[in-house]
Amino acid sequence: MRLRAIEPGDRDALERALRSDGTFRQDEIVVALELIDSAIKSDVDYVVIVAVDDPDAVLGYICYGRTPMTRATIDLYWIVVDAAARGRGVAVALVSAMEAAALAEAQARGELAIGVRVETSPADGHGAARRLYDKLGYPIASELADFYAPGESLITY
Ligand SMILES: CC(C)(COP(=O)(O)OP(=O)(O)OC[C@H]1O[C@@H](n2cnc3c(N)ncnc32)[C@H](O)[C@@H]1OP(=O)(O)O)[C@@H](O)C(=O)NCCC(=O)NCCS
Repeated sequence: MRLRAIEPGDRDALERALRSDGTFRQDEIVVALELIDSAIKSDVDYVVIVAVDDPDAVLGYICYGRTPMTRATIDLYWIVVDAAARGRGVAVALVSAMEAAALAEAQARGELAIGVRVETSPADGHGAARRLYDKLGYPIASELADFYAPGESLITY
């Protein structure tokens, strides 16, 4: 596996990864694709790193960006690994690459460190993601009740 910047030809494979299981609703996939398209256009607000197997089979991606109006925080917007490629460390590699790139960019601006914000829900479909953030040592910073829907909170790591 190797990691590289997103290329325009990745869009279809990234959409297949988003649809590779039932995690995301159609409206969520639309938003995810908007961010992917922004990153392909080199919108400075969104960065996408893609994981590929040789020769160039897309395994998954991470999308992050500087949190508007902060100089110390990035948002991890999406991380998705194709269902066929899960459980082999692709997500950990993608998060590590994001952290390294964001830290290097922050240090180039004279900042010593960078914080990462991740928002998720307690829904069953996001269980693997919550365990990923736990394993990475991301602490839960807050939980806002009834945010996504009655009974479905917003968990911020
Ligand atoms: C969450 C997701 C990105 C993890 O990708 P992955 O490449 O399979 O994850 P990794 O192999 O790097 O696993 C890293 C750790 O995460 C945890 N984890 C990941 N998937 C898990 C699962 N199904 N059950 C339990 N723990 C899981 C484990 O702690 C694992 O470490 P370990 O194998 O040493 O125990 C993937 O399951 C996915 O794409 N899910 C659907 C999309 C999603 O929910 N994205 C997050 C919201 S945008």
